[in-house]
Amino acid sequence: MVEQRELRVSQMTWEADGVVSLCLTRIESDDPLPPWEPGAHIDIYVPDGTTRQYSLCGDPDDRSCWKIAVLLEPKGRGGSAFVHDQLRVGDRLLVTRPKNHFVLEDAPHHALIAGGIGITPMMAMAERLARDGRPFHLTYGGRAAASMAFRRRLAALGDRVSFLAEDTDGRPDLEAILRELPDGGLVYVCGPVGLLRAVEKAAEAVHGLDQDVIRFELFSRTGVEPREPVTVDSDTYELVLAKSGHTLRLTPESNILEVALALGVEVENDCRDGICGSCTTQIVSGTVDHRDLVLTKKEQAAMDTMMICVSRPTCPRLELNL
Ligand code: FES
Repeated sequence: MVEQRELRVSQMTWEADGVVSLCLTRIESDDPLPPWEPGAHIDIYVPDGTTRQYSLCGDPDDRSCWKIAVLLEPKGRGGSAFVHDQLRVGDRLLVTRPKNHFVLEDAPHHALIAGGIGITPMMAMAERLARDGRPFHLTYGGRAAASMAFRRRLAALGDRVSFLAEDTDGRPDLEAILRELPDGGLVYVCGPVGLLRAVEKAAEAVHGLDQDVIRFELFSRTGVEPREPVTVDSDTYELVLAKSGHTLRLTPESNILEVALALGVEVENDCRDGICGSCTTQIVSGTVDHRDLVLTKKEQAAMDTMMICVSRPTCPRLELNL
C-alpha cells in the first residue's frame, strides 16, 4: 500500500525562468515530517489522479517542510502546468513518502554533474558532502544563467561549484571531469538523457568501456533513442512469481508489472517508464531484454534484477522473486 499524506503548500518561490519551488508542510500538527536523504523524491498527485516525481531539494535536517522545484514543461503531460498555473499557497497536495533510488554512495570523491532542473537532487547531495567534509565538485550546466535555479544558494559552496551557462560559457568539459576523477571516485549525473549519453561517452573515452563509475537519474525518456527490441523464438513464455505462488503463460510483450498488480501482488511503482527504479525486481532465473534507463550496462548483463514495468523476457521461463 502506497503511503500517502496531504500537505499544505506553505510557500511558492520563483527560482529562475520557468522554475518555481514549493514548500510543503503538515496541515494540522507540527510533528516532524518523515526523514529523507539526498537523492530522494516524492510523488505528487495531480488532478487527473496520476503522479509526478520530484526530487526533494531542501535541507534534510529541516523536518518541518519538504521542498521541491518544478520546471514548467509546455510539452509535458500537464503536471508542471498544474503546479505553475493552478496550485497556490494554502492549497493542499496529496503526496507519497520520500523514496530514494539515487543514493549517495561512499566514495573518495564525488563528481556531481547537473543539467537544468537536474540540479534539484544534486543540491542536497552537494550540501551533504560539504557538511560532512567529503571531497566533491558540482558542475551545473544550463541553457542560460536566467534559467538556472538556486544559483545564490549554491554560491555558498564556493569554488566547489562551477556554473556553466551554455549561451555564454559553453558546455562542460566532461572528459576533463572524468580524467580528474581519482580511483574509486563516482560520477553522479542528473538531467536530460543527452547529458547522460555525453557523460557515458566521456567515461568510455577516459576509462575504456567501464562505465561503472556513473550513477544517474533521469526525469523523462524524452530524447531516448527508440531501439529495436530483442526478438524471441517463442510466442509465449512461462512467468513464475515465486513468492506469491503464481505461474502464468504470457506473451513476451505482456507488461509484467500490470500482470502482477492485477494478481494483487504488491509491487512498488512510480514512473512505469523504466526510469525511476521503484519496480526493481530480483530475477531468480531466466534472461530479459532490459529496456530500462536505471541499471548500468554491467548490472543489466548480470541478469540479477530487472524493471518489470518495461523489460521483457527472452527465455522460455522467467522466475521472479515476487
Ligand atoms: S516503475 Fe519506474 S522503473 Fe518501473
